[in-house]
Amino acid sequence: LKAKMTIDREFAVATVDPRIYGSFVEHIGRAVYGGIYEPNHPQADDRGFRQDVADLVRELQVPIIRYPGGNFVSGYKWEDGVGPRDRRPARLDLAWRTTEPNEIGTNEFMQWCRQVGAEAMMAVNLGTRGIEDACNLIEYCNHSEGSYWSDLRKSHGYKEPHRIKTWCLGNEMDGEWQVGYKTAEEYGRIAVETAKAMRLVDPGIELVACGSSHSAMPTFPQWEATTLEHTYDAVDYISLHQYYGNPKRDTANFLASALDMDRFIRSVISTCDYMKAKKRSKKTINLSFDEWNVWFHTLESDKAIVPWSVAPPLVEDRYTFEDALVVGSMLITLLKHADRVKIACLAQLVNVIAPIMTDTGGKSWKQTIFYPFLHASVYGRGIVMQPIVLSPKYDSADYTDVPYLEAVAVYRPETKEITVFAVNRHLESALLLDCDLRSLGQVRVVEHLVLAHDDLQAKNTRDEEPVRPRRGPEVQAQDGQLAVSLPKASWNVIRLE
Ligand code: AHR
Repeated sequence: LKAKMTIDREFAVATVDPRIYGSFVEHIGRAVYGGIYEPNHPQADDRGFRQDVADLVRELQVPIIRYPGGNFVSGYKWEDGVGPRDRRPARLDLAWRTTEPNEIGTNEFMQWCRQVGAEAMMAVNLGTRGIEDACNLIEYCNHSEGSYWSDLRKSHGYKEPHRIKTWCLGNEMDGEWQVGYKTAEEYGRIAVETAKAMRLVDPGIELVACGSSHSAMPTFPQWEATTLEHTYDAVDYISLHQYYGNPKRDTANFLASALDMDRFIRSVISTCDYMKAKKRSKKTINLSFDEWNVWFHTLESDKAIVPWSVAPPLVEDRYTFEDALVVGSMLITLLKHADRVKIACLAQLVNVIAPIMTDTGGKSWKQTIFYPFLHASVYGRGIVMQPIVLSPKYDSADYTDVPYLEAVAVYRPETKEITVFAVNRHLESALLLDCDLRSLGQVRVVEHLVLAHDDLQAKNTRDEEPVRPRRGPEVQAQDGQLAVSLPKASWNVIRLE
């Protein structure tokens, strides 16, 4: 099986916004309590943050982290999570039907973000709350001093404002499961008025309006059109959320999931640009793909969780090798749209549908999906080059013309490195990839990293890591041509300089 890819520095799509390697920490399950924070853990620092977990987050080089939800934010009172801990109330979290102890709140999260070198992407509650509470929160976080909420922050021990730049106007407000679910008209109105007021408090912020919760929502894409009709001038981004799964054990079909992601992104771009034309606007709305991942393993088992417990093991999907391939192809798809997708958050980061897992009181470890995310985040910064790919194709249950090869290349001007990310979707056959690199001049292959496994269902555990990258056989480019074999069902990172 053969495929061809032509790489040319002239075919620039855009410079990658590093925020596409963002992630997400929600108050759900063991993401916060027993995840990033576990004061009695031997590796916790004096603030209670697990340093083994912080190390793994730093390894992923996550530049932005969305917080505190998710569905959770739609019933959240942020005031419960600030000030003296002994006076913070425990509350029922209606989104996940658990009890929220409020030991961690906005200030602690901001401290943790500093530890891991990330900025925060803060969501406001537009489910049960509205303009006033959003304004109070941004005043508390971003105003320096001399007002009620900013002085309250100072009295809580945070002299300097947090200066949070990126804010989400609610979460998944199109979903009936959302506490405070709204029609597009209702959401568009509250979103624009909240946006206007928040910008009066801090004109330097960027705002994300809620788009659809997934591509199959019955209200998609009219939801985006109506929302933007109201909010176009007041927001900077519209969000997309999407999770894929393989409940029918149809791997060929599952591996094609990124085709839906690609179609979803294109449709949202078209809707934004339709509204741009309609409004005779010069402004372009960009995309924030602020929840994406594989999620399906725990959908049934989570029904057994006892209601109102504190930090139960919710949504702890154990990822397989094939899940990592889907995550890899989703990363390539995000990169291909680097001109419009400026923020993306792998949902989530720790324990809950996460690349990083922890044992309470014990180890932390890497799931299979850790690796494609790590590679893209570390090597996928620079200028995305439009991939010219010729690949054989297949049809699956839900998709036609699925290319066996999914690939993209990123050029990093500072180091002159070029990295090719490639997934071979073929389940039985290696793919011989011919790369035409003639326009790049003299290049050498630094390394070819491969994530492959004979068992598509292989998983990493706390004790063993069968799914981890290995180096492929030595290959070199000759006369501007590189022939490299991509093993059956594999994620590949080919680094050139
Ligand atoms: O990431 C888990 C949940 O998925 C989030 O809370 C919600 O926004 C989405 O439905």
